[in-house]
Formats: sequence, C-alpha cells, structure tokens
Amino acid sequence: MKDPVRIAITGGAGQISYSLIFRIAAGDMLGPDQPVILQLLEIPQAMDALNGVVMEVNDCAFPLVQDIVATDDPNTAFKDADFALLVGARPRGPGMERKDLLEANAAIFSVQGKALNDHASRDVKVLVVGNPANTNALIASANAPDIDAGQFTAMTRLDHNRALTQLAQKTGKHVTDVENMIIWGNHSATQYPDLAQCKVDGKAAFDLVERDWYETDFIPTVQQRGAAIIKARGASSAASAASSAIDHMHDWALGSKGIVSMAIPSDGSYGIEEGIIYSYPVRCQGGKYEIVQGFELDEFSQEKMKATEKELREERAAVEHLLG
Ligand code: NAI
Repeated sequence: MKDPVRIAITGGAGQISYSLIFRIAAGDMLGPDQPVILQLLEIPQAMDALNGVVMEVNDCAFPLVQDIVATDDPNTAFKDADFALLVGARPRGPGMERKDLLEANAAIFSVQGKALNDHASRDVKVLVVGNPANTNALIASANAPDIDAGQFTAMTRLDHNRALTQLAQKTGKHVTDVENMIIWGNHSATQYPDLAQCKVDGKAAFDLVERDWYETDFIPTVQQRGAAIIKARGASSAASAASSAIDHMHDWALGSKGIVSMAIPSDGSYGIEEGIIYSYPVRCQGGKYEIVQGFELDEFSQEKMKATEKELREERAAVEHLLG
C-alpha cells in the first residue's frame, strides 16, 4: 500500500464539497491504490454541518480514507497538504458590487495563501474553484512567496467539459472523439471556448459545424452555462463542478490524455500578460503541466483572447493592494 497523501478541501460543508469529498474518498481523483487523509476547512458557523459530512464519510467505510480532520483553522487544514482544493468562497450577497465581491474573497484567499505558505508541503498542488477563481488563485499565490507560483491553478475544466459535450452532441459523436478543445482566459462569461484547433473523430470541427452555430450558439452556451444551471436547478452547478475538479487534479497528478484546459500563471505565451492566471491549453505528464505552443490564432480568436485578458487585468487592478 502507498503512503497516504494529505488533501485539504475548503468549504467542506458546501454543495460542491458534498459531491467532491465522497468521490475523492472513493479514489476517483488519485486512483484506487492511493490512501488519503482528508483535511476539511470551514468557517466556525458551518462546523456543525461539516461534522455531519464527516459522519457520513465515516459511514461509507471507504477503504482509502486513513483519517479525516475537520477544522475552522486554515493552519491546521493545510498542514503538510499535498493537494489543496480551495472551494469555499464568499458568494455575492444582495446589493454587493463586483468590487465588493473581489475584496471579500481577496481577504479569504490571502489568509489561505499565507497558511499554505507556512504549513503545506512545498510541492502542494493548489486548485482554486471558489469564484472569482482566477483572481483568487493569484491572491493566494501572492501570499505564498515560498511556494512556486506555478503550483497555483484555477478551474476552467468545467467549461472545457461543457464545451466537449456541446460539440459532441452537435456532431453526433462522443466526447472521447473530440481533441484539442481549448478554453482561454477567465472562468467567467468572457472566457473564450475555441474550436479552431478542435478535431472530432480526426476531422476539423470547422468542417463539421456552421460558423454561425459556433459564434451565436456554441460560444454563448458554454459561457452562460453556469447561469442556465442556476435557472433550471435553482442552485449553482455542484456535482459537475466537483467532477471537473477531480479531472483537473487527476490529470495534473497522473497525466492527461491529450490537451486539457487549466488556468495557470501566464508566462507570456500567446501574447498574454505575464503573471495573471489565464486558462491555456496544457498537457500534463509526470506531475507537471506544460502549455501547448504553436497554435495559429486568427483575428477573431485574438480579439476574444484579449477581451478575457482585459477582464483579468481589471480584476487584478481591483485587488492590487492585497498582492503585496
Ligand atoms: P456553497 O455556498 O454551497 O459552499 C461554500 C462553502 O464555503 C460554505 O459552506 C461556506 O461556509 C464555506 N466558506 C466560506 N468562506 C470560507 C472560508 N473562508 N474558509 C472555509 N470555508 C469557507 O457553494 P458551492 O456551490 O459549493 O460553490 C463554492 C464556490 O465554487 C463558489 O464560489 C462558486 O461560485 C464556485 N464555483 C466555481 C466553479 C468553477 O468552474 N470554477 C463552478 C461552480 C461553482
């Protein structure tokens, strides 16, 4: 049996975690031979609910779960963590402006960044799910100077998976037939789901779908999918977000099949401002990701990529004073 790894999950009593924790405990993220220690963080007001979740995890008698820590102290939650899934965040309340939301979350993610810096494994892999995810990841990273900035990532895998299914359904194929899907930029409505490099069953996606469908149906459907789920379900996407978080961490740790989308610190690739957390096409191998280079970008793509970059620069400007 392998040594257990420590997995910190914040927002442990929330709706995404209610799916995420159980799937991680079942081995879906790191495989059926990898024991895990779950370190769950909540705010003090939600500790009763978190203890209820812990009771349920215990009641599953998962063979891989070696221990469960439930705490409201980030220093305890991140102690020696090998993986950190930062799911908990402050939702937008009534009358709250975008700037207030950014600031409220910036406060949370700067505290958690410091705690990661002081207590987590130096190799910790961090995934930020809580919104605004890209900028929250930037803040956490800025507050963790002793951890390589490349280990702070944000989730656009849900957008990627949504795009795969939209294209597969449109072309009458299966998601596994689709290659080279890319989500560029921010996990927000400005994201750019790009089909220019995409192939379905070996054929160029643009030979299979109309340009008009791409621009007026596919792109807005993927961009607005979160809102469509809220409208239909009366609650935001949870199980699909958890599933995509598992895909993200699984591929990062164990390798990806082909190209996947991850929001990572920009190194200037494709002309994007260095340092912002921007979603790129990556390949993962040996516990590392690498940006896939060399795609030709037409004017349409460049414009869309710049628009989402602009939003990320504005988000960064709004929290600049917290970046140290
Ligand atoms: P939720 O409101 O059900 O759960 C959030 C939990 O986080 C709550 O239990 C809350 O008490 C906790 N929390 C708040 N502040 C905390 C802190 N400082 N430390 C620890 N825990 C804290 O929300 P849900 O549905 O689970 O979503 C979580 C986040 O994920 C939201 O920000 C949501 O917008 C985001 N999200 C991101 C997606 C993505 O693709 N990147 C997709 C879907 C949701």
